[in-house]
Amino acid sequence: MNMPSQATETFQKKDNLFLHPWEDVQNLGKNRRTVISASDGIYVSDTDGNQLLDGPAGMWCVNIGHRRQEMADAIAGQVMQMTYASPWSLTSEPAAVLAEKLSELSPGDLNHVFYTTCGSTAVDSALRFVMFRNNVLGQPQKKQVISRTNAYHGSTYLSASASGKSQDKTYLDTLDRTFHHIADPNLMDRPAGMSLAEYCRDRVEALENKIREIGADKVAAFIAEPILASGGVLLAPQGYHSACLEVCRNHDIVYISDEVVTGFGRLGHFFASEAVFDIVPDIITCAKGITSGYVPLGAFLVSDRLLKSIDARDPQVVFSNGFTYSGHPVACAAALKNIEIMENENLMEHVRTIAPYFQEQLSTLTDLPVVTDVRGCGLMACVECHLDGKGNRSLDRDYKIGNLIDKHCQSLGLLVRPIINMCVMSPPLVINTRQIDELVSKLRQGIERAMQEAKSGEA
Ligand SMILES: Cc1ncc(COP(=O)(O)O)c(C=O)c1O
Repeated sequence: MNMPSQATETFQKKDNLFLHPWEDVQNLGKNRRTVISASDGIYVSDTDGNQLLDGPAGMWCVNIGHRRQEMADAIAGQVMQMTYASPWSLTSEPAAVLAEKLSELSPGDLNHVFYTTCGSTAVDSALRFVMFRNNVLGQPQKKQVISRTNAYHGSTYLSASASGKSQDKTYLDTLDRTFHHIADPNLMDRPAGMSLAEYCRDRVEALENKIREIGADKVAAFIAEPILASGGVLLAPQGYHSACLEVCRNHDIVYISDEVVTGFGRLGHFFASEAVFDIVPDIITCAKGITSGYVPLGAFLVSDRLLKSIDARDPQVVFSNGFTYSGHPVACAAALKNIEIMENENLMEHVRTIAPYFQEQLSTLTDLPVVTDVRGCGLMACVECHLDGKGNRSLDRDYKIGNLIDKHCQSLGLLVRPIINMCVMSPPLVINTRQIDELVSKLRQGIERAMQEAKSGEA
């Protein structure tokens, strides 16, 4: 591994003025982040020429891989054709064509799209839409939202309130009187002796009980990721989502499926809600893979059923929510090209074909004493590590093993960036079997080195 050059150190110093997401304010100025300066396919490289396999595909987003000439041409072409038009009173060809394409790709009657700038604003706008609709329908008391304890839905006030992880809320305000969190479906938590069917029923009952506690007439929405992504790739037992949807329908509660991560190929389909989980929700939120991270874009898709229920009331009703960059023509042109590439290269089929190999190879890591679980679906997986195996657990020791794995994997040429102690792997969808072997082999070596360093430090 090449050591940091003077140029790298200069960038790192300037970078201290950039307040990053989840900035450690106590240690402001002391961070020395790797400066990524080039990328190609499933690899990125830093300013010192070190090449790294992009294990998380950026932030679960670079689905078609880095540095695609067609994307550069589409983006530059749109800039030169027409840079921007206000989405309030005007529209553009890419925004209109993309709306039709998304409506074709989405399940059931989710035929209308509201464009946003990212996943957080997609969730935020979806929640605002649900509350707006209830106001229009004369149900202003129906505003409570149910989510899950390990959910991540974003960083705006509403989407952060929908998110569940308590460590992300320290020193931050959230709308705790509106948002309620129930236990996640997490197969690792299934009590011994409880069948999968019983466990599923138990978790669905958590939703029913919460609705009963709040009062069905007060609950506006249930929001759920098909697979809890940042929570650690937590998979629900089969039938969980459809049973939750049925509960929601019985109580006139809007089901929002947050597909910011699972959408656009991660699970081998443009949208996973129906294709993988057998549900047609009322709203789907998406972002990230919609442009494969080349430019920012988010959206929520909403059912005709919800929209029509508003139509019937008052022709003067206006949903006063939107962004300067809603339906930005350059972002929409990028999304259209991204979808075209996915279709032309049969990327959905590729993911469905290669995913079993990806999951099998990662599962071989369970022979390492610190690896306590490997789980996943499609090209989305989590290798969970605990320094003391299945024994003692503490957050400090979880951070320690995660940081060591991160350091060693990076020196071996693999980007991991664990979520505490969880190595979440979601590589670009174009990955092949040889590259999966490379990823797993480097991860194995990185974990082994981390184990050794932790042991020698404690000896
Ligand atoms: C499921 C889910 N929803 C929403 C978001 C927020 O998306 P963004 O970071 O684009 O605002 C994320 C981000 O990781 C996510 O994983």
